Amino acid sequence: MLNFRCMAHGWSASVMAAVLSTGAFFHSDANAQDAKPEAAGKSVNEQMVDTLTQLSGGPHKGFRANHAKGLIVKGTFSPSASAASISAAPHLQKTSVPVTVRFSNSTGVPTMPDNDANSKPHGIAIRFQLPDAAFTDIVSISYNGFPAATPEEFLGLLNAIAQSGDDAAKPTPIEKFLEAHPQAKLFVTTPKPTPVSFATQAFYGVNSFKFTNAKNVSQFGRYQIVPVGGEKFLTTEQNAKASANYLMDELPGRLKKRPAKFRLLLQLPKEGDAIDNGSIAWPKDRQLVELGTMTLTSVVSDSLAAQQKLDFNPLELPDGIEASADPVLIARPGAYGHSIKRRHQ
Ligand code: HEM
Repeated sequence: MLNFRCMAHGWSASVMAAVLSTGAFFHSDANAQDAKPEAAGKSVNEQMVDTLTQLSGGPHKGFRANHAKGLIVKGTFSPSASAASISAAPHLQKTSVPVTVRFSNSTGVPTMPDNDANSKPHGIAIRFQLPDAAFTDIVSISYNGFPAATPEEFLGLLNAIAQSGDDAAKPTPIEKFLEAHPQAKLFVTTPKPTPVSFATQAFYGVNSFKFTNAKNVSQFGRYQIVPVGGEKFLTTEQNAKASANYLMDELPGRLKKRPAKFRLLLQLPKEGDAIDNGSIAWPKDRQLVELGTMTLTSVVSDSLAAQQKLDFNPLELPDGIEASADPVLIARPGAYGHSIKRRHQ
């Protein structure tokens, strides 16, 4: 059931969470008509960051405009024997590399309770340290799909939420938007269970990338990051009783006892699967290739300071991996850039 009351700023509720975390709702015509005067002359990327900020009751100085609450973990990534057949990228050859990982809650609310519906989908950002101070990033969420196929559509979604306060006439802009955008509606209405731990949650790359191996053979794929021990979720009762920081508090103790392991998988499409539209998940029966295992060993001691210095970029790619033409993927570094510039000021 959709509820558009808001916590942070009287805006939306469960829809806001789902929507904000990944970004993507919009409808072109209605959006143009509803454009805000202050948006004149601003790019779609900047407008998305403005509306994300507005919806979270921000700006919140020093924090990300989306996925504001998180923590940083260290570990290693070891490529599998099959990884090099997919890509010539350095971290997919024989040698293990260090990783820095940031787990996060959705929305730009820095105090977003870990057990709130708006904290989902959760995020994972992985930085693989490569030779010669180079690096590459994977930035994924705990839902297999995005609510919009294009940045314009996402902006439309965000604006529709922003315009659907308590005094909005029925049907509200967000109700109209969801009726006209089935993938957005699916994203918002699909139940997103609450994980026991960040270490018991699977994450999905959503956008496609093109992978090329040393023999110059290329194919598209989408990442999946799956806990080796399987996914584990709280019951509704446990979720209601969980503390507002339970995910952030749980991980340091867990890692002191034993490392958390994830499989990095690549889902391969069949002919006809949408490559350039991350709002449409590929069927579950598609082939999964093992790329390797990520082993997380400790939470960094000053996680807040560390994450404020870190800027992830899903298009920071080595030779052997390229972006697809998915317009949401292409837009992400530009949108993130506005948030990064503002939080470093
Ligand atoms: C046009 C679409 C999107 C917009 C406008 C958007 C917007 C943003 C913004 C502004 C940030 C904060 C950046 C920073 O300050 O460092 C962010 C972070 C993030 N986004 Fe997106 N996003 C979009 C698509 C996606 C998609 C498709 C995914 C995953 C599949 C995703 C997952 C994440 C995650 C996990 C973070 C946190 C990264 C970190 O830990 O630093 N986003 N997004």
